[in-house]
Amino acid sequence: MAEDVTGTPGRLGSGACDVKGVPRLHHLHYHARMCGIFGYAGKRTDAGVIAIEGLKNLEYRGYDSWGIASKCGGELLIEKNIGAIGEIKSEDFSGRCSLSVAHTRWATHGGVTQRNAHPHLSEDGSIAVVHNGIVENYLELRRDLKAKGHTFLSETDTEVIPHLIEEELKKSGDFAEAVRSACMNFDGRYAILALHTKSNMLVAARTGSPLIIGVERNAGHAAASGYFIASDIPAFIKHTRVVQYLDDGEMAATNGRSISFMDICTGESRAKREIKITYRLEQAQKGDYEHFMLKEIMDQKESVARAVNQDEGEIRTIAEAIRRAKGTFLVGCGTAAKACMAAEYFFSVIAEHHVNFAPASEFKMFHHFLKPDSLLIVVSQSGETADVLEAMRVARDKGAKVLAIVNVEGSTIDRDADYTLLINAGPERAVASTKALTGQLAVLLLIAYALSERLKDGKTLLLESASAINDMLNPRFVERLEELAEKIHENDDLYIIGKSWNYPMALESAIKIQEVSYVHAEGFAGGELKHGPIALIEKGSPCIVLTGADEALQDILSNAQELKARGAMIIGVGPQKFEVFDEWIKVPEAGTAQAILNIIPIQALAYFLAVKRGKNPDMPRNLAKSVTVK
Ligand code: G6P
Repeated sequence: MAEDVTGTPGRLGSGACDVKGVPRLHHLHYHARMCGIFGYAGKRTDAGVIAIEGLKNLEYRGYDSWGIASKCGGELLIEKNIGAIGEIKSEDFSGRCSLSVAHTRWATHGGVTQRNAHPHLSEDGSIAVVHNGIVENYLELRRDLKAKGHTFLSETDTEVIPHLIEEELKKSGDFAEAVRSACMNFDGRYAILALHTKSNMLVAARTGSPLIIGVERNAGHAAASGYFIASDIPAFIKHTRVVQYLDDGEMAATNGRSISFMDICTGESRAKREIKITYRLEQAQKGDYEHFMLKEIMDQKESVARAVNQDEGEIRTIAEAIRRAKGTFLVGCGTAAKACMAAEYFFSVIAEHHVNFAPASEFKMFHHFLKPDSLLIVVSQSGETADVLEAMRVARDKGAKVLAIVNVEGSTIDRDADYTLLINAGPERAVASTKALTGQLAVLLLIAYALSERLKDGKTLLLESASAINDMLNPRFVERLEELAEKIHENDDLYIIGKSWNYPMALESAIKIQEVSYVHAEGFAGGELKHGPIALIEKGSPCIVLTGADEALQDILSNAQELKARGAMIIGVGPQKFEVFDEWIKVPEAGTAQAILNIIPIQALAYFLAVKRGKNPDMPRNLAKSVTVK
């Protein structure tokens, strides 16, 4: 059957359920927005406080506004605020609270107001709902509910959810069943968490955006003492490392003592495995750093070595799959897309093997070239990016296999792929991706070496490079980049050029600088300058030139000369110093791994440019860490 590349709006109504009994990814539209969800049910009495703490670890998912509802001493307390997550004002949240839901919002429907912040309540106030995603048919549902006497206080799509659950509850009297039947009426992709004060229950439902359950046990007890339900593991890892993943089309219901899982469409119960999370808690925290972005840049002292540490047999198997595939395609978004683009050069130069790169959002235009024996390699930090999931659907529909290179274990992409390689960078919290990129580059380079039957050489090179990164990221080096940022932070335009794998790194440099410092930065292939962009160069324009001790060197130095002749200030980045440089950032020589090293000082420069310009690099405007919207 020919695939429908545009997809059809996802609806968990009878249509999708009749086909397979489970709502499949390819029935759904990727419309869900970022937002962070947290919930707790259990024996603790500080459910309000832990919800706020948990929410702070999800703030990267949205930071327009936030809110909490907690059942404390029989009463449902609510607090909502605009802006970044602060402290809860009411002291009542600190004790006697054993049930809570909380939310950090990135607005889609309805402006950033206290009223529009989640949780939203049912008419009788006994049901509080937090939600990630969009109920696409909310206008229709709201009209019907209004006709039944429901009043709406916000402009959000979310508010129809508690009201509809309330209506369904009147029919069945069972809260989980009421959430389930309400879900059958929602169009779109979402994650919902609903609290019910009367039955003391939390019910979660997922059709797109992630929801993970943390199971807490007191030492020596087999029975659980409480359950956390959140959009991401760092929200509760302080309390437990035992998790259960909710899959698309599934729900979970808990009273704090036990939990049950079921299929949203059929209501059938589902068994769930418990998985132990192995990463260290401190990896998910800022430690002594002022911002996550700087911490994560510095994490690269170790994270690249972790990425390289892959099972050699697996890497060889993957190389063989690429060799045999009738067409290998590489897709990703944003920074991950730049890793894919660099890999195109790795595969060409190192393995003389052709692979096809496309940004994930463009991939479906090439679906004609996919065959059952094609291979799609998807690269993603979060493992949740909608455009990447869509590309996977397109490939799957043609019978092609999918290899995922991801950072987040258990993410949707990880679980949906035929095969996954984890880059093991540890949690990346800053919106601007840094250590995930270098991990992705390292894994892709390793595969290119395996494809050229030189895996050992590749591994040695990468481990040496990882150790060179460790040396490079010393306090003097970081200070040098801060000084450079001080010099150029008032410039409104900045240009970066590169050739070969340094070209995608020039594009990545531009993204990094744009997204955190809001300086207008543009990256070009050095050879393209003379075909247009050089017209932008004025006296003093800062131009970064990425170099390596490789065959592209002479060409890129000529391009630097062309810029210099128009008055540009040349900032050279690479292992050797040249006359044409006004400034030089020395980076250890790393041969075919040079791109991995060269991008690191630019990440730090972008960070310092943001700080010098008074911006918070961890919370860039209009952006989110993981974009689950198409
Ligand atoms: C967002 C982030 C970027 C990231 C891109 C892809 O736009 O702001 O930093 O590169 O998504 O995300 P992924 O999680 O798939 O790597």
